[in-house]
Amino acid sequence: MWDDLVLEVKNLCKIYYNQNSSILGKGEPKEILRDISFNIKKGEIFGLVGESGCGKSTLGRSIVGLNKDTEGQIIINGEEQKHIKNLSEKVQIIFQDPSSSLNPSKKIGWILEEPLKIHKIGNKQQRIVKVNEILEIIGLDSSYRDRYPKELSGGQRQRISIGSALMLRPNLIVADEPVSALDVSIQAQILNLLQDLHEKFNLAYLFISHNLDVIYYMCDRVAVMYAGEIVELAKVEEIYNNPLHPYTKALVGSSTPFIYQNDFLVNKINSENTVTDVLEEGCKYLKKCPYHKSICKTNTVGMKNVSSSSEEKHLVRCKMF
Ligand SMILES: Nc1ncnc2c1ncn2[C@@H]1O[C@H](COP(=O)(O)OP(=O)(O)OP(=O)(O)O)[C@@H](O)[C@H]1O
Ligand SMILES: [Mg+2]
Repeated sequence: MWDDLVLEVKNLCKIYYNQNSSILGKGEPKEILRDISFNIKKGEIFGLVGESGCGKSTLGRSIVGLNKDTEGQIIINGEEQKHIKNLSEKVQIIFQDPSSSLNPSKKIGWILEEPLKIHKIGNKQQRIVKVNEILEIIGLDSSYRDRYPKELSGGQRQRISIGSALMLRPNLIVADEPVSALDVSIQAQILNLLQDLHEKFNLAYLFISHNLDVIYYMCDRVAVMYAGEIVELAKVEEIYNNPLHPYTKALVGSSTPFIYQNDFLVNKINSENTVTDVLEEGCKYLKKCPYHKSICKTNTVGMKNVSSSSEEKHLVRCKMF
């Protein structure tokens, strides 16, 4: 039922054209997203994991309307994204590097007030009250209103980006590697803040990471991406305990245990992956797959539900299942 869902993505595809490959015309097409389908329930933290360059940010940016020319459907709160007038009231994005997403020439008070001004919400006094409220929610006091972004630490800057994303009270946030640029000791604080906000506002996240440990700590379900496709999707415990796709197996196998202290995640270690060649037809993981058969070369592989439970799906894109 769509009314349980904050987001539905149906058969999303995105092609970029390589500008250097041709002087005339659009250039050589490069398929970045292929047949992406999934949904996020209201108040759910949905993880998206995959190696660098597999298309995670392209997908996240498409959902918040920063990537045009996609094929397929993006439905937010039951409404097709392209018909939504005030998209920023429904969905917001937090980027990896808060330094580049905050205007360096403006004070924090101005930055946080801006979305309210654009949407003509409240008078000056009411807006200042809202800014102070948000500052308190993100763990900073009202004196930060008079500071510039450069006068803040990386963690504080990321708190401001989160606060800015919350100003219009969306019920979905795309968090694109929100802690990757931060010092390890600060990462846990920001993850815990995101968890608190999720509980307080029943916020749903599309939580993007290339680190399965962080995904495991944060998320309810997770989609594993490889070379522009979702290759596996299930509850996070299921992915961790019973990975089926050979790429997920490799990802889980290369993952290191995470460390808890007083119930908080305090550390993580990145798992590095490299991008592989992408075949035009058949399974994209074929060249790396130790189990591949000749059928994997030609057939387009669709997603198959292999779960025995009628309630929770375990989807996998692999000819072995
Ligand atoms: N504007 C663009 N024009 C052409 N190609 C692009 C553009 N933006 C991204 N790409 C390509 O799309 C692919 C996916 O990029 P994307 O940024 O979505 O990956 P990612 O999974 O977020 O990687 P990372 O983990 O490093 O952030 C890459 O091969 C990238 O080079
Ligand atoms: Mg990215």
